[in-house]
Amino acid sequence: MESAGIEVKQVAGALGAEIHGVDLSQSLSNSEFDAVHQAFLDHQVIFFRDQTITPEQHIEFGRRFGELDVHPFAAGLDDHPEIIHVLKEPKDHSGRTFGGGWHTDVTFYEKPALGSILYALDVPESGGDTQFANMYAAYETLSDGLKETLDGMTAVHSASRAYGERGRAMHRDKESYSSMKVRTGPDAETEIEHPVIRTHPETGRKGLFVNRAFTVRFKGWTEAESMPLLEYLYNHAVRPEFTCRFRWEKGSIAFWDNRCTHHFAINDYHGKRRSMHRVTVCGDRPV
Ligand code: SIN
Repeated sequence: MESAGIEVKQVAGALGAEIHGVDLSQSLSNSEFDAVHQAFLDHQVIFFRDQTITPEQHIEFGRRFGELDVHPFAAGLDDHPEIIHVLKEPKDHSGRTFGGGWHTDVTFYEKPALGSILYALDVPESGGDTQFANMYAAYETLSDGLKETLDGMTAVHSASRAYGERGRAMHRDKESYSSMKVRTGPDAETEIEHPVIRTHPETGRKGLFVNRAFTVRFKGWTEAESMPLLEYLYNHAVRPEFTCRFRWEKGSIAFWDNRCTHHFAINDYHGKRRSMHRVTVCGDRPV
């Protein structure tokens, strides 16, 4: 499909499209912005190739979509706190990478992110791909009975597992050494409630809104009671036919919609360098 001189090419059946004909180092015209925005809503994650952008241009592009977040646990750049340096160096322990598990960004906020924009500065020759999964598809393929049950339910989210008490041992452990500056703290224990099924504020479509990294339990249920159903949903949500996989090159950009996707940074490039900049666009309260 082409509009405003921008070509949109779907990369998989479930979600994801490459956008051609746009230079993100330049301010987008309103018609270019509209075409990119529409592709983002239609495909849930959009990809750009061969871009060369400064931190300021990265921030400017993100701000076209909303205010930018400053992550409370992963440090931003000294002069641009809105940009997280997602970094793994050859010396870093093989067992961990930032975002190395299926998740949706910062669902431990009362107002989780609208989207995240990741720009590749340096990538391994092979490995370090990112996978994405479509949460509309995850919801739409549940049975009517389970849909009806989940529609009325609320889930509790927190950053505990990643940045709190549950994550502390992992960060303390020398084996988990990473070049990224990530802190832990008691503020990660704060619990926030979100509907298990959320309606996308722009498309009006319903999607599954629980994730393995930050969902702790269903409201009113114990963790032990919640876990079997959550496990079922996590596994269902990332069935291969609901996913796409992005092969990074230097200058690639991925912009994913956190309101209707999960993503997973694949940790298969031990001993190699991968360096990316991420800005996160603030979102609204899920309903
Ligand atoms: C993230 O979860 O933001 C990191 C994704 C990636 O590095 O591919």
